[in-house]
Order: sequence, then C-alpha cells, then structure tokens
Amino acid sequence: MQKLLIGVIMIVALLSLVGCTTKEDYLILVNKERPIPSDWESRVHIDTVENCYGEEIQIEHRTYAAFKKLREDLLENDGIQIELDSVYRSVEEQQEIWDYWSADPEKGEEYCRQYLAPPGGSEHHTGLAVDIFLIKDGQEIRENNDMIADEVDFEIIHQKMPKYGFILRYLPGKEDVTGYNFEPWHMRYLDDPRIAKDITEKGLTYEEYLGVK
Ligand code: DAL
Ligand code: ZN
Repeated sequence: MQKLLIGVIMIVALLSLVGCTTKEDYLILVNKERPIPSDWESRVHIDTVENCYGEEIQIEHRTYAAFKKLREDLLENDGIQIELDSVYRSVEEQQEIWDYWSADPEKGEEYCRQYLAPPGGSEHHTGLAVDIFLIKDGQEIRENNDMIADEVDFEIIHQKMPKYGFILRYLPGKEDVTGYNFEPWHMRYLDDPRIAKDITEKGLTYEEYLGVK
C-alpha cells in the first residue's frame, strides 16, 4: 500500500513537472474578443530558456521542443537563422508594452491597435505564440518593417512551420478578420502538424478555420 502511494505521488510530481496540457488546450483561441482564461497558467508548463544572445525567454514546454526542430531544419537546409524574440507574456507585461508604445510619439495608439493586443487578449499569454527574428551575416533583423520587407526568407519559414505544428497567425489581407496587420514573425503552436498543414494550405486565419468569423 505504501509503495502504491509513493508511486502515485511520483507520477503526480512528474506530471506537474512536464505539465499536463491537453490537446484542447493547445488549440485554444485567444484574441481581442476571447481573453485568456483565468486558470490558464495552471494548465501549461512554461520553461525559461535563453536565445543565442542570452536573453531569457519564457515558452511553453512542447512549443520550445517544436521550435528547436524548426530552427535546426531552417539553418541546416535553407541557411536561415531564426531566434526567439518574445513568447510568453503575462497580462501585466502586455500592459507595460502597451503603455510604452502608446506613449511613443512616433508609434502611439494607432500602432498599438495595428500590432499589439490589449492586455488579457494577447495570444502571447498562452506561451504558444512565438515571435521570431532573423540573424543574417551576424546582424539582427528585428524591426517590424525590416522583417516585412524580407519576403524571400519568410516565405521559406512560413512553408516549413506547419510540419512542426505552427501556423502563421496574422495573415496579409486578413486584417479585418484577425484585427491586426500582417506579422510575418508571429507564429502559433497548435501541437498538431495535420491541423497546421490544413489551415496553411487553405490560406485561413485561425478564426476562419474555427468558423468564428
Ligand atoms: N502582436 C500580437 C498581436 C500581440 O500583441 O499579441
Ligand atoms: Zn507576437
């Protein structure tokens, strides 16, 4: 009986370590109208990792494993280097980012509406939304406009993402559906390459795929 109890305790401890995120959790839709559920953080396992510049990034466990495979594939087969920029953000962090950019005289509220989710309504709260940047000839390509201009590299990146369970979330020409401008750097992990491929091949936003717009 005692051995059984110890076994159960060990399994529970192990599950809490690796997270017990369900298939449905990975398919969650978060947007301006559908805020992050209040119990979300108890449903996911967020790891703290470092990018190649030693910057600390928080990212959901399986999302990171899939990201590393995508990064390796792109580097080895296409000579494209991608790195993690921003992944998990708390509601408080999103509020700080919103306050910072909305007070910026060049960017302001208009920029925030186009590129930034309201605190509570960001997919980054899930830990499943990954912003990347590029490194080319040792230089960081990290500004929005520089990444938008780099159509060739991003086309290759976007083609490879579904194989590893990622979709492009904010598509060009779908601003009225997603509520955001095109963000070639923002990918979303679904933990299901089959669904990711289906969405990508059909050219749909996640809202359209789920039939909510
Ligand atoms: N840039 C995306 C929309 C966010 O802030 O969640
Ligand atoms: Zn993003």
